[in-house]
Amino acid sequence: MKAIRVYEYGNPEVLRLDEMADPVPGEGEVLIDVAGAGVNPIDWKILSGAMKAFIPLPLPFTPGVEVAGTVVALGKGVTEFSIGDEVFGFINIVGGYATKAVAQVSKLALKPRTLSALQASAVPATALTAWQALTEHASVQRRQKVLIHAAAGGVGSMAVQIAKYFGAEVYATASAHNHAYLKDLGADYTLDYTTQAFDEWVSDVDVVLDLVGGETQTRSFAVLKRNGVLVSPVSLPNMSLANDYGVIPANFATRSDGRQLALIAELFDKGHLTVDVEAYPLADAKGAIEKSMSRHLRGRLALDTTK
Ligand SMILES: NC(=O)c1ccc[n+]([C@@H]2O[C@H](COP(=O)([O-])OP(=O)(O)OC[C@H]3O[C@@H](n4cnc5c(N)ncnc54)[C@H](OP(=O)(O)O)[C@@H]3O)[C@@H](O)[C@H]2O)c1
Repeated sequence: MKAIRVYEYGNPEVLRLDEMADPVPGEGEVLIDVAGAGVNPIDWKILSGAMKAFIPLPLPFTPGVEVAGTVVALGKGVTEFSIGDEVFGFINIVGGYATKAVAQVSKLALKPRTLSALQASAVPATALTAWQALTEHASVQRRQKVLIHAAAGGVGSMAVQIAKYFGAEVYATASAHNHAYLKDLGADYTLDYTTQAFDEWVSDVDVVLDLVGGETQTRSFAVLKRNGVLVSPVSLPNMSLANDYGVIPANFATRSDGRQLALIAELFDKGHLTVDVEAYPLADAKGAIEKSMSRHLRGRLALDTTK
């Protein structure tokens, strides 16, 4: 198989395309012939070495947390999937940027019928993040006001659609050129955060989904109702401010969950969710990572592993 390998931590220049032996699926795992691999900010955060204290990885490793493709071999005891099934999943913290990957069956679901495998490969991590933020940490309800920062990005674009699916009123921040895109996704109100302060635009919010962190997160306390929820997968909200404002703070790491992903697949097939994917060939993983590092992409990024 072909795989992108990292022999030393650093910038995207260190990525190498290698030929190597196919991995062998262990008990409860399948081997996937990968059609696409999603590209996420976690990939370049790991690549830089900034996370090695929390996520120690033996070198070399293959970046990439999510894939879609066809099951081509079954490990011992696998009954959930058959050879030929088209699957997608948030498979691990690394291993996705390759033409073959192994994954535990509990992390996979059948790919949405209405998406190509390349499109589907860019869905699991961001959709699960948005789903878990809004349903598990914020328990979003019909008619609640939900403010989503960085709404045009990977997690944000999923979150806008999921919040609308649950009947919320969605306030979305993005640069002006992304506002028409956000309206298409269902956002009720959009704000250009580069020219206007969101805390002078919205108040009495039930849920803030913070996908930016830093000062954006700190200023978010003031727009929330008492007992509102400030949920962030980026960093832990300040506890003392949460106390002062009477806000419920939540920080979490996304859990891989094949059952939840199957529900998300159904939402795609019923037309409640869509995804916009910009694709790069596997050999240009560097270009895809650099695009992600720009922090100004719209929708999702994926590597086409068939090219
Ligand atoms: N803890 C976890 O398990 C977990 C899981 C998933 C994601 N995350 C984290 O969540 C964050 C978001 O992930 P993502 O995949 O959605 O990132 P992304 O796709 O790279 O986000 C890009 C978007 O960010 C917007 N943006 C940049 N700066 C902004 C600001 N100051 N205010 C509002 N929007 C801003 C850009 O909007 P414009 O181009 O419109 O300006 C762009 O659309 C990342 O830090 C990621 O690492 C954590």
